[in-house]
Amino acid sequence: MTKPKVYATHSLFEPARKLLEAACEVDYSPGPARPARADLLEHVVGKDALICLLTEKINDEVLDAGSKLKIIANVAVGFDNIDVPACTRHEVFASNTPGVVDETTADFAWTLLMAVARRVLEGDRLVRSGQWTGWDLDQLCGGDIWGKTLGIVGFGRIGRAVARRARGFNMRIIYADAVRASTEFEVEANAEFVTMDRLFSEADFISLHVPLLPETRELASTKHLSQMKPTAYLINTSRGPVVDEAALVAALEAKKIAGAALDVFAKEPQVHPGLINRSDVILTPHIASASVETRTKMAVMAVQNVLAVLDGRKSPNALNPDLVIA
Ligand code: DGY
Repeated sequence: MTKPKVYATHSLFEPARKLLEAACEVDYSPGPARPARADLLEHVVGKDALICLLTEKINDEVLDAGSKLKIIANVAVGFDNIDVPACTRHEVFASNTPGVVDETTADFAWTLLMAVARRVLEGDRLVRSGQWTGWDLDQLCGGDIWGKTLGIVGFGRIGRAVARRARGFNMRIIYADAVRASTEFEVEANAEFVTMDRLFSEADFISLHVPLLPETRELASTKHLSQMKPTAYLINTSRGPVVDEAALVAALEAKKIAGAALDVFAKEPQVHPGLINRSDVILTPHIASASVETRTKMAVMAVQNVLAVLDGRKSPNALNPDLVIA
């Protein structure tokens, strides 16, 4: 019996590869560079499934080329790279990897929060430069974390995981979201629901955890950044376009905020030139979920979504679960 054909735009971790290759004939993009658009369009021809990364834009063009596709499995929880209604029109499942990235991403939001507040990278650079002359009373003094107010924008799974970690720092937790959590959950999380304006003006640390939607694009705008305390920090591990980068550079330049730590950028892999040389900013290359365990789980989950659909079932993490295939 011929095996179904899958195109994967990136090699997968071994457990995912084994699972996939046991049931399918797999065409992997050779890497290490991302496949060019023309290669993607060529390789989806005749394939039953596509496993892609968030760097691939999935739209009608891909769906037209891959006219046999039954599923497009994104190896990411965010799916702003996928035109889900277009997938539905083409009767193709689209899936993502919810849940498995939450704790690792929350760990990293905290890594950035602590590193920017306590000026860890500046300290590292000073020691390596050979310019360190010894302990000094006012050297690299940063902001305290314990007892401060943490503002979480987007109180979904990742935002809540970030909030849980704040307990050990005895922080006040405020959050803003389009949907308010239940009273029980607010009590359990010790989190107070506030407006976006209050969040930006009261928090000492603002951590962004919203998906990229028309409503969240440039949510960290000139208006909101100018509401922040001059001692406050902005942390972004969500999606780059949630921050208006030009407005952020202006706010940093004018010392309206104390610093920022960004794992994501509006036009990855490009970075706003005004951010590059700033010592009050930490920049990391979209690695918040990058632990071996979590990236492996993401790959396995994408494969499980593919295998379910190729087996005639619904994708367990379908973004268009109402899709009915005739
Ligand atoms: C996601 O999953 O959407 C992250 O951005 C990468 O883990």
